[in-house]
Amino acid sequence: AIERTISIIKPDAVAKDVIGQIYSRFENNGLKVIAAKMKQLSRAEAEGFYAVHKERPFFADLVAFMTSGPVMIQVLSGDNAVAKNRELMGATNPKEAAAGTIRADFAESIDANAVHGSDSLENAAIEIAYFFDDSEICPR
Ligand code: CMP
Repeated sequence: AIERTISIIKPDAVAKDVIGQIYSRFENNGLKVIAAKMKQLSRAEAEGFYAVHKERPFFADLVAFMTSGPVMIQVLSGDNAVAKNRELMGATNPKEAAAGTIRADFAESIDANAVHGSDSLENAAIEIAYFFDDSEICPR
C-alpha cells in the first residue's frame, strides 16, 4: 500500500553535504519527496519529537546532537514507505548497518547516525503532523 513516512537528515549528514546523495537513494528506490523543510530545531522541538525516549540514558545527548545544527526534514511517499525507508537507512548503529545503506555509507556513530525514519505507520502519522501542516504536503 502507498504509505507516508518521515525522514530526517541529521546535523552530521547536513554538515557533510550529502543531502543530495540521500535524496537520490529515496528517488531511486520509489520514495517520492512530497514535503520538505530545513530547520534548526529548538531544544523544546527536539525534546518533543523524541518524547518517547525521554527516560532513556541517551536522551540528553540525543537532544544536544539534534540541535547542534540544521536538519532536513521530509515526508516520503511510496509503496511500503515506512519499511522501505528503514531498509535504505540500515541499522541504528552504523557499525551494524548493512553495506550500501545510508548509515553504513554516511554515519559515524550511533548518535551521529545521519538519518531518522519513522518506525511504524502509526508513528509516521504522529511525526508528520509534528513538523508539517496538511497544507505543506504535496501529494503526487
Ligand atoms: P533515531 O532513529 O533518530 O531515534 C533515536 C536516536 O537515539 C537514534 O536514532 C540514535 O541516533 C540515538 N541513540 C543513541 N543511543 C541509542 C541507543 N542505545 N539505542 C537507540 N538509539 C540510540
